Amino acid sequence: MNSKLKIGVLGSGKGSNYQAIQEAINAGKLQAETRIVLSDVEDSGILKLARGYGVSAMHVPPGKFMTRLEPEIEEKVAQILKFKSVELLVLAGFMRILKQPLLDAYPRRIINIHPSLLPKYPGIEAWKQALEAGEKKTGCTVHYVDAGMDSGEIIAQSEVPINRGDTPKSLHARIQEAEHKLYPEVIAMIAAEVPSDR
Ligand code: GAR
Repeated sequence: MNSKLKIGVLGSGKGSNYQAIQEAINAGKLQAETRIVLSDVEDSGILKLARGYGVSAMHVPPGKFMTRLEPEIEEKVAQILKFKSVELLVLAGFMRILKQPLLDAYPRRIINIHPSLLPKYPGIEAWKQALEAGEKKTGCTVHYVDAGMDSGEIIAQSEVPINRGDTPKSLHARIQEAEHKLYPEVIAMIAAEVPSDR
C-alpha cells in the first residue's frame, strides 16, 4: 500500500514552483511522489530540474497551435499520465489552455497556480497588470482548472503587498516567494484528503 499522492507536473518555464514542490516532497513535508514532469518547451528549466532530481522528464512537442496543445497530443499526454498512475496533474507555469482530452481524463484533478488574486488579472504577466492598475496588493491563487483561462474554482490564495517603487520584476519575485509556500501547502491538503487504501 502506498499512501503517497502520485502527481504529474506540466510546465513551460524555469520551474521554480516545481522545485518548491519537489523540495517539500524530498524533505518529507509533502506526502506525494512526482511520477513525471512534462513540458511543451524542450530546453525549459523545469525539465532540467526534473532530470537533476532523477525524476522522469519528457518534452511534448505542442503541435501547430500557440495557445493550446493539439487534441491528439493532449490525448497522448492523458495516456502517459494514466500509464504513470498520476492521480493529480499540477500545472506549474504551463502557458497553454487545456482542453477536453485532459479535462475529461482528470475531472477536478488538475490544479494551477496563477500570479494574481483571481478573478482579478487572468492571463499573461498578471503581476504587471496589477501594478499598472495601481493596486496596493496582489498575490497568487491556486485553483482547479476548467476550459477557461484561469477561471476554475479557487482553492486557496495568498496576498502580497505592492510596494512603492516596485518594478514588474521585483513584484513578480515577491509573488513567487508566496507561490513557493502556497503550492506545496495546497497539494499537501489534497494529499491528506486521498484515502490511503485506494
Ligand atoms: C509563475 O509565476 C506562475 O504563477 C505563472 O508562471 C510562473 C511560472 O514560474 N503562471 C501563469 O501565469 C499561468 N497563468 P515557474 O516556472 O518558476 O514556476
